[in-house]
Amino acid sequence: MPLSLAEMRRNYTLQGLQDEQALDDPLAMFGQWLQQARDTEQPPVEANSMMLATVDSAGRPHCRVLLLKGLSDAGLIFFGNYHSDKGQQLTANPHAAMTFFWPAMERQVRIEGQVVPLDPALSDAYFDSRPLASRLGAWASPQSRMLASRASLESMLEQTAQRFLDQPIPRPEHWGGWCLQPERVEFWQGRADRLHDRLDYRLLNGGWCRSRLAP
Ligand SMILES: Cc1cc2nc3c(=O)[nH]c(=O)nc-3n(C[C@H](O)[C@H](O)[C@H](O)COP(=O)(O)O)c2cc1C
Repeated sequence: MPLSLAEMRRNYTLQGLQDEQALDDPLAMFGQWLQQARDTEQPPVEANSMMLATVDSAGRPHCRVLLLKGLSDAGLIFFGNYHSDKGQQLTANPHAAMTFFWPAMERQVRIEGQVVPLDPALSDAYFDSRPLASRLGAWASPQSRMLASRASLESMLEQTAQRFLDQPIPRPEHWGGWCLQPERVEFWQGRADRLHDRLDYRLLNGGWCRSRLAP
């Protein structure tokens, strides 16, 4: 059967997003939506998964899926390898964008802002909470670098496991968290006949200004 992408479309009729439902603080509202997504989305969708877009030194965008691991007044926290492509891109250009898509809720949230490295003590605490295999993997995997083979990765993991046999595994300096400090947050709620709701928050002089955008 030929794949007919042009005919694939869904009408979004679940709910609207009225101005009266909007909170003044978009991070509080994002927290509400995240909780509702966690309670509603079915596996394999992970409610805390998102697309993170970064830009390289040539101005080219790069996008990949990551897991959101924390939400605070300071911003949105995620983890990875500081030497990875995204790590290098964020060091050179801290501007980044995140997109969350929750299909069961017919919702999207877009968040833009600047990314700063997370306080090392918080990275340590999260690293220590990870399962053993993940902690070993953070040492063993040179994320984003070219590998000779799958076997070479497995052998690096084996060597790392031997190195830390019966020893505590500290957080590698090249692995840790980042915090995206939001400057713009957009809530999108699918509506019937493509008349979707879009509420857009922008940070102006330390306060959030909200407006409604055309779909
Ligand atoms: C569901 C899912 C969750 C992921 N979570 C993370 C994560 O939290 N941190 C991370 O560094 N990579 C995560 N990845 C892998 C990234 O998509 C990506 O391959 C990796 O970070 C390397 O990207 P880079 O080469 O652009 O730095 C995840 C991938 C998927 C599909």
